[in-house]
Amino acid sequence: MADPVDVHAMDPETFRDHVRSFEFWFGAVQGYLEGTSFGHRPETPDAPLDAAARDALVTVLCSYCVGETIALEGAGALIRIAPNRPTKVFLATQTVDEGRHLEVLTHRLQELGVAEPEAEIAARADPKLLEFRRRFLELVRGEDWEAAVFAQNVILEAMEFSVFHLHARSADPRTRELLLGIIKDERRHIGFGENELGRRLARAPEIRERLARVRRELDPLVLASFASTLERVGAPPEDSDELGRSYVEAVERLGFA
Ligand SMILES: [Fe+2]
Ligand SMILES: [Fe+2]
Repeated sequence: MADPVDVHAMDPETFRDHVRSFEFWFGAVQGYLEGTSFGHRPETPDAPLDAAARDALVTVLCSYCVGETIALEGAGALIRIAPNRPTKVFLATQTVDEGRHLEVLTHRLQELGVAEPEAEIAARADPKLLEFRRRFLELVRGEDWEAAVFAQNVILEAMEFSVFHLHARSADPRTRELLLGIIKDERRHIGFGENELGRRLARAPEIRERLARVRRELDPLVLASFASTLERVGAPPEDSDELGRSYVEAVERLGFA
């Protein structure tokens, strides 16, 4: 599952010239998806879980499905307001990624014995994530490109990246493999958000205050949701601290204190 390209190590112009294409996307995903079925190698064992651990995992996966659905709907909706064609193409690749993430997570729920994932996701959805979704879709409807990219490709993606990474450490083998595959894509999505906003912030610093306001409103919702996720999978308290740190690093790269 080696990552052939580290998007954060690329200089911003190289990123802009190469990453916003299906040509790049195909090369990026081929390496870690080849030979897998629903995000994991067919031979990876489905380790038995006791009832409590299974129930906790189902709740957590339902929460991930809500986050991935927000990203799927968001990436698709942002295509219409994206400022140019390469950006629309990138969002098309992201839409495909988010659809795949939702599919493998839903499939994992079925492997765990959830007969009706749709109903289970609705029943277990975290109200804070649903509130994030409502506010994020307002930004999309208002055609606020910078704020919507910030909410989706920085706040939501950076938190997902962190929590999947921390969860993968203690997850059963199948869940671990599919989370590690998803992380590779989320890294590319965060890279896009940082690249897009970094250039705009450098050219128009007045955007900063608007994004800081979005951040103050939205990041507590996502942070609270993912912190309770980590608690549910039995992650040690230090991991919750690390969740905060990892997120802060992403926003600091954009110059937010
Ligand atoms: Fe995703
Ligand atoms: Fe993503």
